[in-house]
Order: sequence, then C-alpha cells, then structure tokens
Amino acid sequence: MHISDSRGVSAQAAGPDALAAHAVDAIEGLSGIHPGYRRAHAKGICCRAVFRPNGLAAAFTTAPHLQLQESEAIVRFSGSSTDPALADVLSPAKGMAVQFSLPDGEVSSLVGVTIPVFFARTPESFVDIVQSVHQARKGKLGPIDLVKEITAHFSESKEAMLAVRRLKPPASYAESHYYCIHAYFFKDHEGNSRPVKFEWKPDAGVRSLSAGDAAAQPDNYLEEELELRLKDEPAVFQLIAVFGEKDDPTDDPTRAWPEDRRRIGIGRLFITGITGEQEGLVMDPSAISEGMALSDDPILHFRHAAYADSHRRRSRER
Ligand code: HEM
Repeated sequence: MHISDSRGVSAQAAGPDALAAHAVDAIEGLSGIHPGYRRAHAKGICCRAVFRPNGLAAAFTTAPHLQLQESEAIVRFSGSSTDPALADVLSPAKGMAVQFSLPDGEVSSLVGVTIPVFFARTPESFVDIVQSVHQARKGKLGPIDLVKEITAHFSESKEAMLAVRRLKPPASYAESHYYCIHAYFFKDHEGNSRPVKFEWKPDAGVRSLSAGDAAAQPDNYLEEELELRLKDEPAVFQLIAVFGEKDDPTDDPTRAWPEDRRRIGIGRLFITGITGEQEGLVMDPSAISEGMALSDDPILHFRHAAYADSHRRRSRER
C-alpha cells in the first residue's frame, strides 16, 4: 500500500498554501471533482439560529458571544462525504458547523463532527492517509479491510476509525451529538489562559436508526426530516465547554481528553429555520473572537488554508 508521498514533502517545503492545495487535490482524488461544491462535507443544509449564552463562561473568557447577550448564527449540517450525491445513510460521520455573528461585524466559528477524535495528527499525515484510502479503494478493499489497512500503517488513526465503526445512522441532524475536536484556550479579563474543547449536545437527546430503518430511508432523509421538524419547533443544542487539565494534549486531535474533565453548559443554540447557502460562507474553525486563542494543534492551524483553497475552487466553478 502507498504510505508516503514525496510530492507531499516538496509541497510542505513550498509552504502551507501549497500543502493545502496538495491536501485538497488528495481529497478530490476520493470521489472526483463535483463543480461548485465543498471539497469535503459536500452535501449540506444551512439554517438560521440564535445563540443565547447563560453567563457561565464569563468567568473564563471575554469572548463577546459567550457573555450574556444573544447573537445570531448560521449553522450548516453536512454529511462527511466528498460526493454531494451520496445518500445520507452512506456517509457515516455528520458535521455541524456554527458561525456566530459578533457585535463588531466579525465572526467566530465552531465546527463539529459526530466523532470525538480526528484520524490524522498532522497535515502531512492527513495527505498520506487520504491517498492511502484512495489506493486501498482502487484495490477494491471493503470497508472493514480498509480500516484494518489504514490502522496497521497509521496507528494515530486507530481511535477515529474505531469511533467511525461505532457510529449508527442518526435519526436526525437535531438528535446527534457533535464534537469540535480541537483544543482552544479561553482568555479571561486578567489574561489567564485555560485549555478548552467544545461539544454541541442536543436537547432532544441522541437517537439513531436500526439498520433496517436506515436502509428504508430516502437519500436525503436527514435534510427532509430537519425541514419538517423546524416547521413545528426549533432544534436546540447546548454548548458544552470541557476544561483540560495539566498534561492533557492540546496539540493532538487524534487523542481525546479523559472523560472525567470538568464540563459546563455555557448557552443554548436555537435553530429556527432553513436558509439558502450564502455565497462566500466558509466555516473556518480558526476564525475566533477575542477571549479565545488557538491551541498548538497543527491540524487546526492548517484548516484555514485548506478551507480557503476549497472555497477558491468552488467559487471559480459557480
Ligand atoms: C487536515 C485536516 C482537514 C482538512 C484538509 C479538511 C478539509 C476540508 C475541506 C476542504 C472542507 C470544505 C471547505 C469549504 O469549501 O468551505 C471541509 C469541510 C468540513 N470539515 Fe474539514 N478538513 C480537515 C479537518 C477537519 C476536522 C478535524 C474536522 C472535525 C471537526 C472537520 C470537519 C469539517 C466539517 C464539519 C466541514 C463542513 C463545513 C461546512 O459546513 O461548511 N474537518 N474540510
């Protein structure tokens, strides 16, 4: 199996933009180019929302949207596949990206998925793993053998692959739990800094479908269910802050923190309706407000260039 790639090394030497273009090329290799669509999480639905913070985060951060004043937000739910035509039931992990509007006209984003860890520790290994998946698929490996092959060569992927195998088809985008994976830092008024991760916990609880029920669903069942649900009531999520302790890794998205870490609910997101997609919407997880800082996670930093590259490609095609 192909496990290393010299083009990746030369792209890395040329800088983050070249490596980002290389990563997006690798993603395109998985299911081809779908003009006008995001290169990952291609199929999605945008919603309007309001975030109401409860004030509990104010002791830890000066972030304006996490004090007491409500802010508007855009939410995009998505399937993880690179193919926008893939049936919902066939893309295992789902995404929930939230972009808060800040009082100064800027935005702050949190991007989550339904697994707690990522499969790659660095941008370079991301490229190698995606290319290896592509090679393994060309060799007609089934899903279980593919997972075995990848985890045999890339031990960092083990936790994420296990998490994907445990996923069941969700009953609803609004009844799924989303993890924002990367560590950030909260900054308080005195300049103190604390490591923190975020999760979106659905008020409606988590519900999945049996294999039989899932097989009977139409291709776009998650979007259809959400549209119907929002006609009756908002979909509500609690934003959970999880605080890291000494020695919890902040630079490694493949490793979860221990389960007993302090968790507090810091506000609720009320999703009230469907909107069309805004031209230019990029859910960049490195776009954050004052009162927050990025951790040293190389994947978190790299996503800015990769998402910008994908946005450039899809805008040109529209
Ligand atoms: C090297 C790491 C990664 C690369 C190269 C990558 C690449 C991409 C690309 C190219 C897009 C489309 C962006 C656009 O056109 O706007 C995307 C979207 C997305 N990615 Fe990643 N990604 C990475 C890591 C992650 C991680 C760790 C997560 C987990 C939270 C994640 C979750 C998502 C979600 C939810 C979307 C859809 C965002 C939206 O709805 O606009 N990605 N990714």
